[in-house]
Parts: sequence; structure tokens; C-alpha cells
Amino acid sequence: MAFPSTSMCGPGVQYRSSTMSLSSRSSLGFSQPALRPEFVNCSKESRCNIRRPLCISQAIATESAEKVAASETTEPLLLRAVRGDKVERPPVWLMRQAGRYMKVYRDLCEKHPSFRERSENVDLSIEISLQPWKKFQPDGVILFSDILTPLTGMNIPFDIIKGKGPIIPHPIRTAHDVSQVRELVPEEAVPYVGETLKALKSEVGNASTILGFVGAPFTLASYIVEGGSSKNYSNIKRLAFGHPEVLHSLLQKLAVSVALYIKYQADHGAQAVQIFDSWATQLSPVDFEAFSLPYLKQIISDVKTTHPHLPIILYASGSGGLLERMASACADVVSVDWSVDMAEARQRLGHDVAVQGNVDPGVLFGSKDFITRRIHDTVAKAGQQKHILNLGHGVLVGTPEENVEHFFDVAKSLRYE
Ligand code: CP3
Repeated sequence: MAFPSTSMCGPGVQYRSSTMSLSSRSSLGFSQPALRPEFVNCSKESRCNIRRPLCISQAIATESAEKVAASETTEPLLLRAVRGDKVERPPVWLMRQAGRYMKVYRDLCEKHPSFRERSENVDLSIEISLQPWKKFQPDGVILFSDILTPLTGMNIPFDIIKGKGPIIPHPIRTAHDVSQVRELVPEEAVPYVGETLKALKSEVGNASTILGFVGAPFTLASYIVEGGSSKNYSNIKRLAFGHPEVLHSLLQKLAVSVALYIKYQADHGAQAVQIFDSWATQLSPVDFEAFSLPYLKQIISDVKTTHPHLPIILYASGSGGLLERMASACADVVSVDWSVDMAEARQRLGHDVAVQGNVDPGVLFGSKDFITRRIHDTVAKAGQQKHILNLGHGVLVGTPEENVEHFFDVAKSLRYE
């Protein structure tokens, strides 16, 4: 199956990719793409049948300069960047920006050793979500929770045990098991998520973007079927290749609940939502097309019918082999990990879809100078539009906190030409 180099998920704004060169030097002294986005075509046709709310080039042409300027002062940088507005620098946040690399978090864990308490008690999850906000002022404030959090509301008990990770005591492997899975009613099952998001929005206002998140059906299913984290994913593959109809019925149930959960988060203050399909790359491309992509498409299409303006970010770990397929799910942002060079990711994805990433989290173990150089390299390769600077996966345990601070300082001092 051939994939076009530009995403065609909405009224497609296409740029001439040949204008991208990595040779010009910026005033900051790092190479930046000399990207002149020349408007070519703004088609109403969509391969995915999802209509993006705004055709950027058209909008800029028709809106007055004053109106654009006014929206720039009120809307958070990340939302403007995703939409394709001209911004002064790339917005920056980090996956797992709250967590064990932070001393305040480790201290709080001593008083509250249960992960589920920390993520399900409104006061604690607000406090933890705000820890990185208070220290680094990232351009995205992500809810402190977990992709597994909604599972209890679907009749799938779980826990997260220190040193062991997620545990699902009753893994789901048969049609009967799947029949016991209930549809999520977020306001009944996870009211604390809504309350936390509301509080974060009122605390942060428009100074940053409140980010919600969910697990994608395949990644959630990998935990639910394996019973926890896995090395070889043998159980879910046994199900996928031995009894695909059972896995499909589980994935379908998950897709319905995940869409409801995204809408709930958006209704309670999330201004963008990231879908984590972290383990989708355990599937070969042909199996990704069978067991992940259709459900991602279904979720995004469903959410866009009621929340057309909500940006959706799609992340998979090790996704170099899947980029075009990920883009075909019609997310607004493809979050890229370090298995692909950012310049190549841009070339392969085109400039209609925004990109997020993709510094190797291990870089944060390097010297400050090294971190600075890697940030400059990534930003230069991503181009001056539609880029959210981030790591290619979450901040690693043991990362020096001062290096994370340095990452944010450097990122926030960047200026596009
Ligand atoms: O990014 C953020 O700051 C928000 C917090 C967040 C957590 N989990 C908190 C958490 C997010 C976005 C997640 C998503 C998540 N959870 C994913 C997708 C992202 C990814 O890493 O690919 C996955 C696969 C999970 C499942 C999960 N939960 C794992 C694999 C673990 C790690 C187990 C371990 O001990 O290392 C968890 C637990 C977890 N969720 C932690 C945190 C901060 C670590 C445990 C702790 O702090 O006590």
C-alpha cells in the first residue's frame, strides 16, 4: 500500500517540500530550515473523511491582521503552533514531565506510596500535575494519571506496583472475558479526572495548554491481555493470530470507551489530548493496519464529530517504520520518537500534519552543552511551523532534574527567524 507524502485528513494545506533546506544559519547560530510555506492547494477532499476545522492558509488570508494578533495574545502557544500559525518558537513540554526524576515527587511518594492514590485523589493529582509547571513553566501541562486509570470503570481491575509496574490480576483472553468488559461512564468511573482537569485549567489559564491523554486500544489491550508489561507480547499475539475475532471485539469495546473518555477530558478542561499507542510498534505494519489503525481512525473520527477543534496528538514508541500509517489515522500531531531523524520525519509526513518530538530521553544524561546542541538540531530539522518540541518518549527515572531545567531554558530561549 502506497502512502502519500502529505497527510490528507482534512482540507489539505500542502506546501512545496522542495523549499526545505537545512543549510541556512539562524541568528541563534543553529541551522534552521529555510522553510517558505508556499500555499499550493487547499483541497476539501479528505481521504479520512475528517474535516479539519480550519484551512490555515485560507483563514489567514481572510481574517484581518488585527484578529490574528488578538488571538495570538489569548491562545496558548501550543494550540497556535498546532494550527499552523506563525509562532515565535516551538512550544515545549515533556512526556512524563511529572514523576520520579523530580525530588518533590519522590518526597510526595514517601507520604503517599500508592500510585492509584496519587493519581485518583484530586488534590494529589492536581499537586503532582503542577509540580513541573511550577518549576519549568512548560507549554503543556499534562494531567497526572495513567493510561490504565479508566480500566476499573470498565470492570478491569488493575494496580501499579513499585518495582513491578502495571498488574492486571485477571487478564482477558477469551470471548467470555471480553463480554464482561463494560463501557466507560467517565463521570461515574473517573470523576476525579474531570475535577483535576478543571482545576488545572483554572490554575494555568491560557499561560499553557492543558493536556489530557488516553491509551490507544491496542496498547491498553496489550496490558489487559498480558496481565501487565510484557517483553514478547506472546499472549496478545496468540490471541491476535489465533482468535482475531476475540481481540477485535475487545479492541472495539476499548475504542468506544476511549472516545468517550477523550470527549469527557475535553469537556472538563483538556485543550489537546494525546493518544498513547506506545506498544503498537510491536506489530508489523500489516498487523498495525489490522489491529491498531482502524480503531485509532474510529476514535479520532468519532471525537472530531463532536469536538472538531480539539487537537489530537498520536504517539507510538519506535515508530520510524509506521509514520505514514500513523498520519493516516488523521491525528493533528504525530509524535515522533528518536528512531527517525526529524528532517526525514518531516519529509515523510509533509507539512499539513504537525510533528512532536523527538529528542532521545537519554540525551538528558549528557552534558548541558550536548543537550543544547541536540535541541538545536531537532528544532532546525522540524522547520518553523507545526512543531512541538518534546522527547521521543518519557523522561527516564534518574534523569538529573537540572538537565530537564536546562532543556526547558534552552527551548524557551529559542526564536524562529
Ligand atoms: O506524562 C506525564 O507526566 C503524565 C503522567 C503519565 C503516567 N503514565 C504516570 C505514571 C502518563 C502520560 C502515563 C502514560 C502511560 N502509562 C503509558 C504511555 C506512555 C509510555 O510510557 O509509553 C504507559 C505505557 C503506561 C503504563 C505504565 N504506568 C507503565 C509502563 C508504568 C511504569 C512502571 C514503572 O514502575 O516504571 C506506569 C506507572 C507510572 N505511570 C509511573 C508514572 C509517573 C511510574 C510509577 C510511579 O511514579 O510511581
